[in-house]
Amino acid sequence: MKTEDTAHNEGPSAFAQAAELELRGVSKLYPGQREPAIKELSLTVPAGEVCVLVGPSGSGKTTAMRLINRLIPISGGDILLGGESVLEREPKALRREIGYVIQQIGLFPHQTVGENIATVPRLLGWEEKRIGERVDELLALIDLDPAEMRTRYPSQLSGGQRQRVGVARALAADPPLMLMDEPFGAIDPINRARLQDEFLRLQAQVKKTVVFVTHDIDEAIKMGDRIAILREGGVLAQYDTPQEILTRPADSFVAQFVGADRGLKRLALTTLAELKLIEPNGLRPDESADGARRVPRETSVRDALSTLLSAGGQPLTVIDGEGRVEGLVTLTLVEQLLSEEAANANANGNGNGNGNGNAADGG
Ligand SMILES: Nc1ncnc2c1ncn2[C@@H]1O[C@H](COP(=O)(O)OP(=O)(O)O)[C@@H](O)[C@H]1O
Ligand SMILES: [Mg+2]
Repeated sequence: MKTEDTAHNEGPSAFAQAAELELRGVSKLYPGQREPAIKELSLTVPAGEVCVLVGPSGSGKTTAMRLINRLIPISGGDILLGGESVLEREPKALRREIGYVIQQIGLFPHQTVGENIATVPRLLGWEEKRIGERVDELLALIDLDPAEMRTRYPSQLSGGQRQRVGVARALAADPPLMLMDEPFGAIDPINRARLQDEFLRLQAQVKKTVVFVTHDIDEAIKMGDRIAILREGGVLAQYDTPQEILTRPADSFVAQFVGADRGLKRLALTTLAELKLIEPNGLRPDESADGARRVPRETSVRDALSTLLSAGGQPLTVIDGEGRVEGLVTLTLVEQLLSEEAANANANGNGNGNGNGNAADGG
């Protein structure tokens, strides 16, 4: 992939194509270390998908990111972006094609928000007019008012705003690949959830190939089309969709990492709209019209369960976008869903080798 092919030439928002990323037997041994930080890591991220790299501290997540954009030399294997080895690329040119977002975002403190976002387009020699348009377009995309925000300095922003500007800066030249290393790690939980939602909304528009690092399995489940779970020594434990990882963890390490509450976590992947709701007949849903008991159909079953529990187990009324009643959700319905999924997982073999689901106790 040549720079000219990806830095689009027409209009500020002609999104470049995302590119497939393939790691082929990638290893990294730091000088002076006995054990590799990454060991023969192979995985493919299809163009336009979000791959979340998750694992305990020291499992090599940051190392993998730095290998991809060639901040550090590789010890073995190959990395292909859009089918071409990154090892054959000039590192600086390669990095202009890869948006990189890190936790302590590293905005340039003496440059305005606008100048920060314009960094890579400037390096690429875009015309000033096009740069200005692109900056405003990106600010709008991350929900910041261009007129107000363009001329501010990073110190005049909240932590969450800084992080969003970091994302905008990484997106500026429309890279076919985005690397995000614990991008929301330093943000408080409420703003973090907002940034996650916003990123998912943004990604639905820009459809980049994204490698997103986190040590938080909940964040991984929420953000990933696929999740790669690394264990100590940079060994890949499982690479699968969130649903598969929660339903069929490959081994006891993965099962432990995703947590004993993986049934609950699975509920976060299903919305009420996907359930066969109970007919409201006779239960007079409109009488339970106080806000807490009416939930939009887009609510996850997990959130609905929390609401059900705090409502003392009373049924919730599920409504559509126009406020029309679609049906009711009850604790029994959630319970049924959980036991159906558990039965499916066992029927297909849950692979964690601990004998769950066998009639071993003999009653
Ligand atoms: N520059 C370095 N020199 C030597 N060892 C390093 C270096 N950077 C990271 N490591 C080691 O490599 C392993 C993986 O680190 P890292 O990729 O930062 O993990 P993670 O991001 O998953 O927490 C750790 O054991 C870490 O100590
Ligand atoms: Mg790290």
